[in-house]
Amino acid sequence: MPPNPADLRHEYEGPALLEKDAAEDPFDQFAVWFAEAVDAALYEPTAMTLATADAEGRPSARIVLLKEYDRRGFVFYTNYESRKGREMAENPRACLLFFWDRLHRQVRIDGTVERTAEAEADAYFASRPYGARIGAWASAQSREIAGREELEVRVRALREKYPESVPRPPYWGGYRVRPVRFEFWQGRSDRLHDRLAYAKEGAGWRRYRLAP
Ligand SMILES: Cc1cc2nc3c(=O)[nH]c(=O)nc-3n(C[C@H](O)[C@H](O)[C@H](O)COP(=O)(O)O)c2cc1C
Repeated sequence: MPPNPADLRHEYEGPALLEKDAAEDPFDQFAVWFAEAVDAALYEPTAMTLATADAEGRPSARIVLLKEYDRRGFVFYTNYESRKGREMAENPRACLLFFWDRLHRQVRIDGTVERTAEAEADAYFASRPYGARIGAWASAQSREIAGREELEVRVRALREKYPESVPRPPYWGGYRVRPVRFEFWQGRSDRLHDRLAYAKEGAGWRRYRLAP
């Protein structure tokens, strides 16, 4: 018998997330939790679900990796012609979601999206391993392909064309999500979780608690 999901019940017993301990500024709070996620030796603490929607509001979601963050926003890299790229061109809003399961924590970020500067994308692309740089050229991300072989043939040809230095493809680069809202969720016992949200108000942030 396959496992019944309803039988897989966990208790959540994290440390409290109380107003007196949480940062006034959501970027500071993110920095504290991100450091704790890295310290917890999670396999991929930078993995985040990116939700986008097309012009008709049809949603889609997938995982991408956080590569940089500061007060301007949260950066990931991808193919501008992928499904997510097409959706963000039509509708430049997105949500990011981190789930750090061992810490019983979730962070939600809603914001507007813009492309990173060309120079920023060049610098990050140049820092990627050779295979990943070739892969960016080889894959017309999210397009239907005939089979795995098609990809491998392209990779072989590209390795010959670019044996050492690989330029950044013009359709590949970064996006920055500029937050307008954050929510930090800490699992607690009896499903009485802590949820602290921050909404952008003028130059600052309003912090408030949500019912679990
Ligand atoms: C752990 C993990 C990390 C990933 N990181 C990225 C990433 O940083 N950029 C990216 O374009 N796709 C990444 N992907 C693949 C995406 O989830 C997705 O398959 C791809 O971007 C195509 O999405 P789209 O068709 O919605 O555009 C990652 C997938 C996983 C599971």
